[in-house]
Amino acid sequence: MSDKVSRRQFAKIAGLSAAGMANPVGAVEVNPAPPPRAGTGFPAGFVWGTATSSYQVEGAVNEDGRGASIWDKFVRIPGKIEDGTTGDRANEHYHRYKEDIALIKELGCKAYRFSVAWPRVFPDGDGKPNPKGLDFYNRLVDELLKNGIEPWLTLYHWDLPQSLQDRFGGWRSTETCKIFGDYAAYVAEHLTDRVKNVFTLNESGRFVYFGYGIGIDAPGLTLPQAELNQIRHNSALAHGLAVQAVRAHGRHGTRVGPAENIDACAPAIDTPENVRAAEIALREMNGGYLNVIMTGQYTDAFLKFAGPNAPKYIDAELKIISSPVDFLGLNIYAPQNYVVASDQGAGFMPLPIPKSFPHMNSDWLRVGPETIYWVPKLAAKIWKTDAIYISENGTSGDDVVRPDGKIYDTDRIMYLRNYLAQLQRATSEGVPVRGYFLWSLMDNFEWVYGLNKRFGLYHVNFDTQVRTPKLSASFYRNVIATNAAGV
Ligand code: BG6
Repeated sequence: MSDKVSRRQFAKIAGLSAAGMANPVGAVEVNPAPPPRAGTGFPAGFVWGTATSSYQVEGAVNEDGRGASIWDKFVRIPGKIEDGTTGDRANEHYHRYKEDIALIKELGCKAYRFSVAWPRVFPDGDGKPNPKGLDFYNRLVDELLKNGIEPWLTLYHWDLPQSLQDRFGGWRSTETCKIFGDYAAYVAEHLTDRVKNVFTLNESGRFVYFGYGIGIDAPGLTLPQAELNQIRHNSALAHGLAVQAVRAHGRHGTRVGPAENIDACAPAIDTPENVRAAEIALREMNGGYLNVIMTGQYTDAFLKFAGPNAPKYIDAELKIISSPVDFLGLNIYAPQNYVVASDQGAGFMPLPIPKSFPHMNSDWLRVGPETIYWVPKLAAKIWKTDAIYISENGTSGDDVVRPDGKIYDTDRIMYLRNYLAQLQRATSEGVPVRGYFLWSLMDNFEWVYGLNKRFGLYHVNFDTQVRTPKLSASFYRNVIATNAAGV
């Protein structure tokens, strides 16, 4: 958001305040509404959850034998993190996990998506495991189950052991993929007696491009396209090796799948031609990761477009990459491409996005609720999956604490209500979305933004570590209690 815009908005708010209309006091706790009207709810058994990730919440980076991750190093490079903060302390979740699980329970969530910090379990990435690291996840999982909350585990949410970056160049080398497979096997062996659902890598699309392409995420490199395509290929290989490791070492019946920030394509206008174009676009725009995972092939258009920069691989790798998964996890926040049909190229044309397109507090977070209707619908068709989970959706907000101590995040409620209404539209048409994880349980360390962006249902005061439910926590509790979007 430009400075100009934010100042103008500030003036407006200040104006309302002077008129006595801002800062409402004594707002009420919302009691669960009556059951939804017929046809307005989600399917029975729909999984409602929230999500976090290790580096963003745990803190305790030097405790109990945890090794360093690429983020520990990256956050110390001056200028990389907007407010100069680090995840050293973050939410102190490593010590406060019981308190945080009580917050999840308070929402009525039956599922919680968290990630394992690889360098806690293997301080060097490979070699000798650190039993104290695993113990933390044992305690976490036990506490979740004690509270009736299903643990959904992510193996990798970007905190790569620094040692693997130093020795092999991180994801530039297939050595890291193989070691990731071993780590996945170890985690599966020790936790899948209680953890029934495992996500492999979180958002290859982001950590490859931001971390190795434009250098704004760890490890902060700016490599050419050919290398990026190879690294993306390696990440798909790592995903496949992890799927195989979970099958071989996990308890029978453990389910596994990716959690990807799918390049979200939707028809600009709902006509049969545009819908078909959006379907083609969704496959092609995700040709470097999701499509190859789900089909075992790079599309002709993808290879043609990549030309000499196309990844190098052998067929056996494609087999590993496309090891069958049990579900598709999709992180859906914002529309990426509005598409119309075209008689040129692959048959679709992504439209330019106007500067004036509305967005939330984060300027990348465009408001396009219909995305969460179209993307799962088209994804289910393209990749013939019968189980999709929205592994992340949510928004940042300014989340000002008012004089009465409350946070009236009606912007987040607006966003969630509209996205959930569209998700409900999808499930009511039979699109196989089985669950939804709201990002995030609580404000946390937001990568490049540091503590400047707040995505939580619970506000966190990072000085005192006090957690305060925002109004959206009541909204989400109501959604869960009624199993309906609250439209
Ligand atoms: C998702 C990530 O892409 O977006 C989360 O999986 C992240 O880890 C969230 O917190 C918000 O992203 P950002 O860039 O605004 O911090």
